[in-house]
Amino acid sequence: MPNYFGGDNDRPLIIEREEILLPDYVPDELIHRDAELQNIADSVKPLLSKRTPHNIFIHGFSGSGKTTCVKLILKQLIEHSSNVLPVYVNCWEHTTQMAVYGRIIEEMRLPLPRRGLAADEIFSKILEYIKNYKKPVLLVLDEIDGLRHDNILYVISRSNERALMFGLIGISNNKTFMAKLDDRVRSSLRFSELEFKKYSEDQLVSILRTRAELALAPKSYDERILLKIVRSTDDTSARVALELLWKAAKNAEKNSRTSIMLQDIEDISSDSHSFKSEFKFSSEEILILKALEKGPLTSSELYNSLSEKIPKTKRQIRNYIDLLEKKGVIESEELESDGILKPKLFRLK
Ligand SMILES: Nc1ncnc2c1ncn2[C@@H]1O[C@H](COP(=O)(O)OP(=O)(O)OP(=O)(O)O)[C@@H](O)[C@H]1O
Ligand SMILES: [Mg+2]
Repeated sequence: MPNYFGGDNDRPLIIEREEILLPDYVPDELIHRDAELQNIADSVKPLLSKRTPHNIFIHGFSGSGKTTCVKLILKQLIEHSSNVLPVYVNCWEHTTQMAVYGRIIEEMRLPLPRRGLAADEIFSKILEYIKNYKKPVLLVLDEIDGLRHDNILYVISRSNERALMFGLIGISNNKTFMAKLDDRVRSSLRFSELEFKKYSEDQLVSILRTRAELALAPKSYDERILLKIVRSTDDTSARVALELLWKAAKNAEKNSRTSIMLQDIEDISSDSHSFKSEFKFSSEEILILKALEKGPLTSSELYNSLSEKIPKTKRQIRNYIDLLEKKGVIESEELESDGILKPKLFRLK
């Protein structure tokens, strides 16, 4: 009888560094976005010498590299200078003024008194820090349309009228977000717009190639496979293309192959999974979708099944659920109950 721990089964057949294909990975080098990266850096630069930066509003299709480009600029900014405090906030996760302040305070490492402070008291502490350390904040509001209210933008624009406190970068898929802002906020923050255009087929192939070189075993793929992957979807999102490459590689490994074949791309294209593009969702959102795949769940059933798997508060879990409802992938109905808070029943749409 063989020893089942023996053999070389642990050695990956194809995927050597999986993290490089996953959506949160920030590559050291981004290709085809030179002009955009330079534009963002130029807009931020004045902040380093305490001059007024150009606030920017970045918009463009999903998977066009907006978040990754801005994260790369923040990384380079930290390496280059300590004169500015960059704060990255995902507004789908931090939807309120207080939550955004919370992120700034976290980056400032400010101790807060145990007694809860009101929003304006917290904001005064933030301004005090900026004045004392002479360090303006570069606030990145990613998915800015997730903010429940634009009051934070108003408060920031007011504080900048007196002294330079903040530079702002807003990011969204929704080009029309700016038009919806209050006139006073818009005119005082004077955002300049930067559009991220769709990637062409060639560009997507080269993005896949640079990632595959780092993540996959050298002879496990070829140009024909990369092109086929890009052509297998109408989406021009680099995220979707990377996801398909990852799935194809997984499929090949599952079939004990040492290289990706056309068959793998066919297999994953015919995969009838109910939410095909998992990479469009965060890992938390995928857990929620997976929980609901087995059938509808009430609010408390959903919280309970998730709280074992993710170290998040009930409120954070609720934000993910709200978000999936806004994205139109799940729906809910209120259930009859005597209490004030009516439980809800959630299901996949
Ligand atoms: N130019 C590029 N070079 C290398 N990788 C890229 C490039 N553009 C995007 N990617 C990769 O594609 C994925 C999606 O990019 P990103 O999350 O930045 O898109 P996005 O525009 O913010 O999308 P969304 O609007 O859905 O948030 C990431 O894994 C990122 O690393
Ligand atoms: Mg993004």
